[in-house]
Amino acid sequence: MNSSRIGQPLDRVDGVAKVTGQARYAAEYPADGLLHGSVVCSAIARGRVRAIDASAALALPGVVWVLTHENRPVMAGDDESYEDEDAADGSPFRPLFDARVRYSGQPLALVLADSPELARHAASLVRVDYQPDEHETDLRAALQRAHDAPAELPEPRGDADAAIAGAEVQLALEYELANEYHNPMEPHASTVIYQPGGDLLVHDKTQGPQNSQQYLCNVLNLEPSRVRVLSAFVGGAFGSGLRPQYQLPLAAMAALTLRRSVRVALTRQQMFTFGYRPRTVQRLRLGASAEGKLQGLIHEAIGQTSRFEDFTEQVVPWSGMLYHCDHLRLDYRLTPLDVYTPLDMRAPGAATGLFALESAMDELAWATGTDPVQLRLLNYSETDQNQGKPYSSKELRACYRQGAEAFGWSRRSAQPRSMREGEQLIGWGMATGVWEAMQKPASARASLSADGRLIVASATCDIGPGTATAMTQIAADTLGIDPARVHFKLGDSTLPTAPLQGGSFTVSSVGSAVREACLALARRLCEAARQLPDAPFSDASQLRCIDGRVQQGDDSQRAIDLQELLARHGSLAAEVDAKPGKQREQVASATHSAVFVEVRVDEALGTVRVSRVVSAIAAGRVVNPKTARSQILGGVVWGIGMALQEEALIDHRLGRCMNHNLADYHLPVHADIGDIEVIFVEEEDALVNALGSKGVGEIGIVGVAAAVANAVYHATGKRIRQLPITLDRLL
Ligand code: MOS
Repeated sequence: MNSSRIGQPLDRVDGVAKVTGQARYAAEYPADGLLHGSVVCSAIARGRVRAIDASAALALPGVVWVLTHENRPVMAGDDESYEDEDAADGSPFRPLFDARVRYSGQPLALVLADSPELARHAASLVRVDYQPDEHETDLRAALQRAHDAPAELPEPRGDADAAIAGAEVQLALEYELANEYHNPMEPHASTVIYQPGGDLLVHDKTQGPQNSQQYLCNVLNLEPSRVRVLSAFVGGAFGSGLRPQYQLPLAAMAALTLRRSVRVALTRQQMFTFGYRPRTVQRLRLGASAEGKLQGLIHEAIGQTSRFEDFTEQVVPWSGMLYHCDHLRLDYRLTPLDVYTPLDMRAPGAATGLFALESAMDELAWATGTDPVQLRLLNYSETDQNQGKPYSSKELRACYRQGAEAFGWSRRSAQPRSMREGEQLIGWGMATGVWEAMQKPASARASLSADGRLIVASATCDIGPGTATAMTQIAADTLGIDPARVHFKLGDSTLPTAPLQGGSFTVSSVGSAVREACLALARRLCEAARQLPDAPFSDASQLRCIDGRVQQGDDSQRAIDLQELLARHGSLAAEVDAKPGKQREQVASATHSAVFVEVRVDEALGTVRVSRVVSAIAAGRVVNPKTARSQILGGVVWGIGMALQEEALIDHRLGRCMNHNLADYHLPVHADIGDIEVIFVEEEDALVNALGSKGVGEIGIVGVAAAVANAVYHATGKRIRQLPITLDRLL
């Protein structure tokens, strides 16, 4: 029946293509006469390029050209706008714009050759003569230069300083996390296919093919009709593909100049020359009653940014909404450094801010002798105080209850260092997670062909969450047809407009558009059925589309098979523009989670292993519990990496990331991960959108790092306020 299709664990519709290697990624498209570009990156953090000597590279047979700031095609200037959907405030970075070096790793030249190996070798022969300037890349050394971030913060409430000063329990805490670099499995790549006549067909690794298309047109001053961007498959991104990265304009500039197809694929090391989750220092002051009821809260954060753009994320607002507190002050500032601009990374801001807030709440639990779950319940907020609005739904209590139950939280012995097995100290910790449930305008087109296949299309993409699968289910459910007869088209800038795939808003935004397009199509089908001269209906106002036919009400005798209808009428299509409903304006919408973690700390070595995680999620209706569970698993694993491993080690004398490879930049592997149990609690939401679905992309990571840190405290009695919790910090 209709309703069975949403909520079913449908296998990924593109799973076979992916695991058999039939799915092509951006760097895998062939083209006649394809040239390969290799990027030369800056070795200094600040200064000017005096000269680039490419003669040794150009002398090699098979090397075709070296693109630099001196010979590049015309590019939008400082005064011309060429924003992309996710560009930070300021003067956006343009590769090869001029001779200035703004950060270590900045692309300075692109070597074009017949093979990728030759291009890479030739790039190593390019000599850059620099005029270096003094640089600063250390946030701690430059905190005093912080300026207000261009971000709207919730208004202060009451008098936080006075409330804290008068509170029985007062805490002043400082937390810090390191730069974390994006390392999706597929490094960034663009293949620009030069079409006869000069049009560009681009295969790009992106979270928004239309954003990449508009960016290219704006930067290189091209007619939109000349550029089509495809992103059929994307091997992970989670923020790194929200902005077009530098390989895209470099490949396009080379293709336009040489009138040839060009591919630029970044190396793993070059993945460390752009976006990252920014190092951030956070100070929290809490005032509470002896029982742990919050009376005042101040959360201040200072993040790093580049000198040319102000990267902002939502670090502190969560502290004004997650718990009830009448006296509150939030502050968020940025320190410009000689680094590249940070970039959104899964749950940008929330992963950072909730590490601090949820660590601090744990510290408050200890200071007041309150169970950490009880402390959260004591401070539970029924409304979003930042906006002064009730929630469209909030089943966070159920997350605490079901998560604690599944984890066995009631068996926890309260004292630190009180649980052990042999050499291993065992610690149990928990934290709350929260993420906004957003919806953006999106469009979709649904068409039924004469053979009864439903094609639904929107210019979104699928960076891994299973978007094509979820959209297939939504379409099948709405029209009441078999998912096997549905095909969802995405990853093409020429399809109906869709927002970037980010922010956990794809199901809410594109899913709503898909649903509305299918509803519009159903109306057309009913209309077409009504007009058939021999239609078997007595009351045509009751027609509906169900189980592959148009029928009158519940009367399956008075029905016309869709296939017959289409054969007689011809194909039918409908396109809609969907937008957030008015009802949303009265409410706040968010996803929530409760994360419970068990760690095992080797007492002698200081090594930490996360042996168990239970993550209980409230995210409205779950479209596909299988792919949604995978989203949460991925978020939890990433959170464990954030807590224990991920850290860019910067040599500030050179201003450069030194561990720019996956041997030295540590990420969790299978052997690092224990049991992870995911629980989706029931959450009915009639307001967030017609699907009742909030999205699960980010929520899985939020709170995980704090839950691990809190468990480490419970295991060892040591509070580590700086991530990652490496053994040198713990011993
Ligand atoms: Mo997400 S960091 O909005 O891809």
